[in-house]
Amino acid sequence: MNPASPLAPAMLEVDELKAGYGRQDVLHGLSLPPLAAGELTALLGPNGSGKSTLLKTLAGLVRVRAGTARLDGRDLATADQAERARHVVYLPQGLPAEVHLRVFESVLVAARAGDGLAPSASPAEIETLLERLGIAPLALHYLDALSGGQKQLVGLAQALIRRPRVLLLDEPLSALDLNYQFHVMQLLRQETRQYGLISVIVLHDLNAALQHADRAVLIHQGRLAGAGAPADVITPQALAAVYGVQGRVESCSRGLRQVLIDGLLAHPR
Ligand SMILES: Nc1ncnc2c1ncn2[C@@H]1O[C@H](COP(=O)(O)OP(=O)(O)O)[C@@H](O)[C@H]1O
Ligand SMILES: [Mg+2]
Repeated sequence: MNPASPLAPAMLEVDELKAGYGRQDVLHGLSLPPLAAGELTALLGPNGSGKSTLLKTLAGLVRVRAGTARLDGRDLATADQAERARHVVYLPQGLPAEVHLRVFESVLVAARAGDGLAPSASPAEIETLLERLGIAPLALHYLDALSGGQKQLVGLAQALIRRPRVLLLDEPLSALDLNYQFHVMQLLRQETRQYGLISVIVLHDLNAALQHADRAVLIHQGRLAGAGAPADVITPQALAAVYGVQGRVESCSRGLRQVLIDGLLAHPR
């Protein structure tokens, strides 16, 4: 699954994807514009719209019923599991399991979780990553004795240390304070650019998407409701149609777009 040629940019393509649980389809033939290496995409949409299902399907945890998800032209559904796990890293919604391991050890285990073909990160690289995430002082602390936000940062370290091609993060900011939310978004953007990752990040904070993401994909009821530059996707019309809220998108004194919610629309979503 390495790029076919240095001229062919790495790309994740989702085409007419159908997936779900039991008899119920959640993704109803979802197609996305190609997601390119080096770009951070914010995956947006209301509760229950299928964001987590999309990430789980891309990670191979939910079966594809129809359509395709291709990395560099190769169908992920038919890829070897170990190879797929090496290229695609998925951080689930919620916090990492309560294991009695020290932070450093847990990241070391994650780094070695691949198929053994790719060289895993060295202890020095783990130290650097923990420093960049601002959690180096916690390296020798036990994971099961950390706060929710600290655990979430360790989960991010476990995902980033694997140096995947595709990084799928489900609500990675949910337990973080304002300072860490900003810090993590900045770091993810840097890592995405520096290592040419294809990063897809589920966010509820539309202002964070406007400020930090290269692109936005908006889904609603398992279908695409918008894709493109965040400012083109996050509009009052989309807020009304998809979230059922009456909102404004205004430029602040520094020219950044900000979402402001004035009320709820009368019709049910
Ligand atoms: N494991 C599951 N079994 C059955 N239904 C599920 C499961 N996970 C999610 N769903 C359903 O799929 C729909 C989409 O859920 P999800 O992808 O988690 O939405 P989102 O992440 O956008 O909030 C919801 O209606 C949810 O109830
Ligand atoms: Mg979800």
